[in-house]
Amino acid sequence: MGAATIFPTFLSAYLLLVCLVCSLKEGYFLGRISATAESHHLQHRHTIQVSSLLPSSVCSPAAQALDKKASLPVVHKHGPCSRLHQDKANIPTPAEVLLQDEARVKSIRSKLAKIYPGSSNVEETDAATLPAKDGSVVGSGNYIVTVGLGTPKKDLSLIFDTGSDITWTQCQPCVRSCYKQQDPIFSPSQSSTYSNISCTSTVCNSLASATGNSPGCSSSTCVYAIQYGDSSFSVGFFAKDTLTLTPSDVYNDFLFGCGQNNRGLFGGSAGLLGLGRDKLSLPSQTALKYKKFFSYCLPSSASSTGFLTFGDGGASKSIKFTTLSTISQGSSFYGIDITGISVGGQKLSIAASVFTAGGAIIDSGTVISRLPPTAYAALKSAFRKQMSQYPMAQPLSILDTCYDFSKYSSVSFPKISFFFSGGVEVPIAAKGVFYVSSISQVCLGFAGNSDDSDTGIFGNTQQKTLQVLYDGAAGRLGFSTGGCT
Ligand SMILES: *[C@@H]1O[C@H](CO)[C@@H](O)[C@H](O)[C@H]1NC(C)=O
Repeated sequence: MGAATIFPTFLSAYLLLVCLVCSLKEGYFLGRISATAESHHLQHRHTIQVSSLLPSSVCSPAAQALDKKASLPVVHKHGPCSRLHQDKANIPTPAEVLLQDEARVKSIRSKLAKIYPGSSNVEETDAATLPAKDGSVVGSGNYIVTVGLGTPKKDLSLIFDTGSDITWTQCQPCVRSCYKQQDPIFSPSQSSTYSNISCTSTVCNSLASATGNSPGCSSSTCVYAIQYGDSSFSVGFFAKDTLTLTPSDVYNDFLFGCGQNNRGLFGGSAGLLGLGRDKLSLPSQTALKYKKFFSYCLPSSASSTGFLTFGDGGASKSIKFTTLSTISQGSSFYGIDITGISVGGQKLSIAASVFTAGGAIIDSGTVISRLPPTAYAALKSAFRKQMSQYPMAQPLSILDTCYDFSKYSSVSFPKISFFFSGGVEVPIAAKGVFYVSSISQVCLGFAGNSDDSDTGIFGNTQQKTLQVLYDGAAGRLGFSTGGCT
């Protein structure tokens, strides 16, 4: 009797104990499972301090670039690391930068359309939509390097541009007009190594493909003219002089445009450094030494520095290569094949044909990547879904997915990767995801083209901190993460 009562009591106590252990164990396992889910979740998100979205007002230059050969520091045109920074009046607003970016994209389209005579969608750029204070479609979100020209050398800050070929700078005398620049204007008469190119020279004829305009001739001197889609242009003598990249990288007889009639502010820079694929570009002119091999890293913010390096000395070992595509054969542009996009570790389901319809290029001068509208819609939708905890903000120009982070000290957002032909995955840096107007208007930094058949562009916001390596001779393009800060 007693045992019968004790036993169930004992049994229930025992079962209770077992259940306690099992529930503890279960809790432990559940905890482990959710911790794994949590770390899995975290692994696919960036977490940053909101204050880090805004550039600092002091320059913190990076040291890593300087141990490389033929390496020039790269700075954002309008940041505290730039020599052009004093010219604060000319700093465009974020909305103006996006407007100018649209103009650049239009000029790229019209240049691509010219290469294919069958194409009828040559767009006229609408200069009237550009803010008057900067008529340049070279764009405002650009990066500059300082090179030396002439003997003795004069330092010039030039915008570097993988989307154009000839290098030009404003020259004295400014016969028609020169825009305001920070460096003293180059004076050919003060360089002992300067000479004009004659109209009968074969390189004079190469101007046609490099600039899209037939060369002119004035007093038997070859005249170049290049325009950038809207009202900005440079016209002057085609010339050669000594180009000094670094003290040990000096080129005699470097062909460049000595501009005596220039319009567009070009952000106070002295002109343009052309890194495109045509014969007259800097990589082509220095091909014997560098084999059309150069790499750069665009800094994460205007208050840090990146680099532009010629030759393969500085290539990271972890670099992954994709093929430079032939979409833009014969043009200045570097074609690439985007094959996919992932958001928060999940590959978006986008048909391959969406990316192949218009192809794509990589461009150092376009700020916001342009995607086929079908791909952008998928990106936007996945991103918004994983950002539902944050309040949205007004769209900003071409950017339609903006957030108000003003009530947060830190935020987390899904990681984004781009995939290129050859199975190359390129993780976009945390600083490459957003385009920031203010803390209360932080926008997903991608935009859709108007049609899937338009050429896509992998722009400079998304290239931030990546080492991007152009191997023109081998026809390949390399990427590695963490190239600069
Ligand atoms: C280059 O050509 C222009 C036009 O003919 C001329 O004014 C200038 O003096 C020439 N410069 C040199 C160094 O020959």
